[in-house]
Formats: sequence, structure tokens, C-alpha cells
Amino acid sequence: MSNVNELKVPDIGDFGEVEVIEILVAVGDTITAEQSLVTVESDKSSMEIPAEAAGVIKAIKVKIGDKVSQGTVLVEVEAAGDAPAAKPAPEPAKAATSAGAKPEAKAESKPAAKPESKADDAPAADAAPAGGAEEIVTVPDIGDFDSVEVIEVLVAVGDKVSAEQSLVTVESDKSSMEIPTAIAGEVTEVLVKIGDKVSKGSNLVKLKSGGASKAAAAPAAKPAASAPAPAAKADAPSAASQQAGAQPSESQAATPSRPAPAAAVDTPVAGGPKAHASPSVRKFARELGVDLTKVPATGPKNRVTPDDVRNYVKQVMAQGAVAPAAAAAAPAGAGGGLQVLAWPKVDFAKFGEVEAKPLSRIKKISGANLHRNWVMIPHVTNNDEADIGGLEAFRVSLNKENEKSGVKVTMLAFLIKAVVAALKKFPEFNASLDGDNLVLKKYFHIGFAADTPNGLVVPVIRDADKKGIMQIAVETGELAKKARDGKLGPAEMQGGCFSISSLGGIGGTHFTPIINAPEVAILGVSKSAMKPVWDGKQFVPQLTLPLSLSYDHRVIDGASAARFNAYLGAVLADFRRVIL
Ligand code: COA
Repeated sequence: MSNVNELKVPDIGDFGEVEVIEILVAVGDTITAEQSLVTVESDKSSMEIPAEAAGVIKAIKVKIGDKVSQGTVLVEVEAAGDAPAAKPAPEPAKAATSAGAKPEAKAESKPAAKPESKADDAPAADAAPAGGAEEIVTVPDIGDFDSVEVIEVLVAVGDKVSAEQSLVTVESDKSSMEIPTAIAGEVTEVLVKIGDKVSKGSNLVKLKSGGASKAAAAPAAKPAASAPAPAAKADAPSAASQQAGAQPSESQAATPSRPAPAAAVDTPVAGGPKAHASPSVRKFARELGVDLTKVPATGPKNRVTPDDVRNYVKQVMAQGAVAPAAAAAAPAGAGGGLQVLAWPKVDFAKFGEVEAKPLSRIKKISGANLHRNWVMIPHVTNNDEADIGGLEAFRVSLNKENEKSGVKVTMLAFLIKAVVAALKKFPEFNASLDGDNLVLKKYFHIGFAADTPNGLVVPVIRDADKKGIMQIAVETGELAKKARDGKLGPAEMQGGCFSISSLGGIGGTHFTPIINAPEVAILGVSKSAMKPVWDGKQFVPQLTLPLSLSYDHRVIDGASAARFNAYLGAVLADFRRVIL
């Protein structure tokens, strides 16, 4: 009762013959419609190609390095008989980035098309620029790439740019591309900044054509003439890309605000002055503040992989601990006398049977966040214990009283309320670092880590200070269920002030939770246990809850953390303190 479908490359317009640089699924994976299957790359942009239907991957028909174009079969999927692998109706809100729309958008947005439309659209207002005239370069027709975010500005005032040189990089959720200028000249004003949303016709820069505007316009026609260029480019993307200086702009792809093209030169790079990376790797690098051009690349054709970025960060951190100056200047492995080893590459199959299982999307995202937070925040964990005998007895009786309502109160609801009381008493825990400022929050949104089959997520209880225990219990239950069902919306995971990670239902004594940046502290809770406690005369049994408070030592001193944890323990021991 199952049928096998071939999932092919959809219409990707002039993106003919582009190279597969990543395969994002494996045989046996259950995929959803719109899940990305492969990443392809031309010399100026890369994009992920999504599945048009859901199912289980039976065969992968391409390999890294293959050239693909519209109609190339990527994978074979088997769809359950009664759950046909139909593509869901496109969501209008996501039209610009949805499976169907993306490739079309891409097709029109390919770099070669841009200069062409540029010539048409060209800054008509500044008609027939004479020598030295200023012209505004606008975004050409980039198809369905409507309102896309500028993630990099690749030029600065005073830069001399040549026709076809990239001005900005824009990114949708699954692909990124550089927008080149059709004309040469000197940048006199940059009209966009990182974070701006642009569409066709948006102003990018003002250029002074330097008395050669006609000549400058000519090359602009060239890319148009070579409109099928992506194909030509794709023929030798790596060769083109490895020409140092050929695309100085690309070399700055991961540099949020670059000073000048010279930045390309000062990179004693293992990966080469131009970094090749997929959009997701570029995003990851940006989140960590990593200049991709400095990352030694180990992927095919000198492509930077996520592991390369991770290893680079580790290496820089390790070098920084020994000799920051040396680390800043030194290429891989040369810092401050400390030898930094590459991540071990082991052929595990040599030692026994193995199976490679790709990380889930949630794991990839949370992994990148956890890694950044662990590497960038100086963590210290304060461990304490709370006497919760009275509270547990109250919780049990409360649940008995409310048996019929279907609402079950777990320790988590009390912890959220107790944490709010502690945050009110110690406001620097309800804060975020913003440069040299500490932003103190007057609201109390508390996140809690929820374990799901696909990985860890952190839904947020909003305004926990204004809610009672029963309401908090209802909301945590609902959010935890949504999390497990994979139905949490982004808004339900945003805006948190402080997080709680409760492993109390599972076990353990203490652990070191990782702070959920940009928060400055997190509470880890382990399983309560009956312990003998000396009361001055004798040992008495006490139900004890282990509390592990990790804090950002840049913001919080050890003494404050100990006070926070002790106060939390006091509140849990006598919950009446919440109303004080
Ligand atoms: N000590 C002892 N027992 C505890 C406890 C504690 N600190 N906390 C909860 N329990 C008990 C509960 O009372 C419940 O018992 P019962 O079934 O006999 O009534 C049982 O453990 C299960 O509770 P749980 O379903 O986990 O509810 P919760 O409200 O405590 O936690 C979540 C809800 C969503 C936080 C939890 O399900 C979860 O996902 N925890 C994992 C978080 C995680 O992975 N953190 C690691 C991040 S690094």
C-alpha cells in the first residue's frame, strides 16, 4: 500500500547545472514536504532545494559534486498509501520562501539576470549620466524574493566598485544571494543597512560614475548577454571562486560590516580569501561572529562546513586563553605556543558496524545555540538544596482537591513562581547584556526546557508574575504538549527572561545547565530525594530538592548567585514568602 515518488529539482530558472554541495537527508529518513533535500551552489549564491512531498527516503540519486538542473531526480521517496505525499497548499504568508516559490524566485534572482534588469530599471531619474554624475543603484527584479533581509553590506563610502561587483547580500530563510551593481563607479552613499528589508526597486547605493559612466554601463550589459551565465558559472564554480580577489566582496560575506575590500587581503586563510559555505553555515558563522574567510575549510572544493566553524571557534577560544594577540593574528594551529588539534576524523566503521543518522533540525539549531552559549559565556554553577517537604505535601493535597479538573500541578509550576520572587529580589538576574549596558527587564517571562523526541526546546510562560500556580500549571502542560507534538510557534519560544531546566522527573543529583543567551542565568533542577539532615540534636528526614544555578559571571558575582539560590530555597521551603 505504498508508492514510490521521484522528487526532482523544480524550476530553478537559469540556475541550470548547479553543483550539489550538501546532501541534507539520508536513506531511511522520514521527510516532510518542504524539508530541504540538498544544497546547490553557483558562484554567487546557494540555495536549499526542498522536497515537494513527504515520505520516507528510499534512495538518493545524486551525490556531492553532481551538477543538477530542473528535472534532475534527487531522491526517491515512499509515501504511505493512505497518506499520499501531496504537497501542502502553499502558505501565502510564506510565498516568497516556500518550496514552490523559492526556486522561481531564485530563477529570476540569479545574479546574471540582475545586471540586465538593472540596465532597464537603471536610475532613470539620473538620466544619461555625464561624467561624474551620481546614480542610484536599485535592487533589480529578484522575482518572488520580495522583502528579503539585507544580511551583509559589502561596500562602504569611498569604495570603487566595478560592474558586477556585489553590493549587498540578501537572505531568505533558505537561500542567500549577492546583489551586484550593473555599473562601475565610486560609492558616495550607502542607502541600506544590515537588517533592512529590500525588494525590487529598493535603493542600495549612490555611485559616482567617475566620468566613465558609459563605459561603466557597458560591462553591465555583459552579464546580461551571458544571461545563461549561471550555467556557465556552474561549470567551474570553484575555479571562479578560488580566484583570489576576483570577488573581493564575497570574501567579506561573513563580515557583518566590513571596512574595505582590503579585508580580503589580511586573511592568512586556510580556506582561501573567498569562503564557500551554504546559507545555513553562513548564518551559523554570523551568529558566532565568525569571519568565514578565516575558517580553514575541509569540505569538498574548499567549502566551509559547520564543523569547520565549530573547530575554528574552539581553536580561537583556546588560543585566546593563552595569548589573545597571537590568536588574533595567527592562522590555525599557530597560536601562543598552544597546539590546537583538528577535530579527530575517525573511520568508525573500521572498528565495528555503524549507522550515520543526521541530526534533527531542532538539534542542529539548538546545538549551534548551546555551543555558542557555552563557548562565549563564562559560566559558573552554584549548587544548593531546598527543603521542599511542606511544599510537596501541599502539592499532593492540591492535586487531590483538583483531581476532577484534570489539571495536575507539578513542582515546575511552583518553581516558576518562586523564580519570579527571586528575580524581583535580585533584578540583575532578570537582565541581558547589550554591549556595555545591562538591560534590566520589568517583565517576568520564564522559559522552561522541554524534552521532545526531536530535541530540546524552550517554551516561555509570559507574565508569570501575574499568574497563579494553577494557571501556570495549565500553561506549562499545554506548552510541553505542543513542544512534544512539534507544534510550538516561534512566538511561544521568544522573549524569555530566565530559564528553568527541570530533570526532576527523570533523575540525577546536580548538573550544569547552559545559559540560554541572551539571558544571564538558568536554574537546573534535579530529582528530589529524602535526606537525613542534622537539626542540632538529631538527624531528621527532609525532602530535598537539588538546585543548580548557572550564571554569567560577567554580570553576576558568585556571592549574588549564592544569595539568589539560598533565597530560592527559602521560598520553596516556605512558599508564603512569595507574597512578601
Ligand atoms: N523531583 C522529583 N519528582 C519530580 C520532580 C522533582 N524535582 N519534578 C517532577 N517530578 C515528578 C512529577 O511530579 C511527575 O510525577 P508523577 O508522574 O508521579 O506525578 C513526574 O516527575 C513527571 O513530571 P513531568 O511530566 O516531567 O512534569 P514536570 O512539570 O516536572 O516537567 C517538563 C515538565 C516539560 C519540564 C519535562 O517533561 C521535561 O521535558 N523535562 C526535561 C527538561 C530537559 O530535558 N532539560 C535538560 C536541558 S539540558
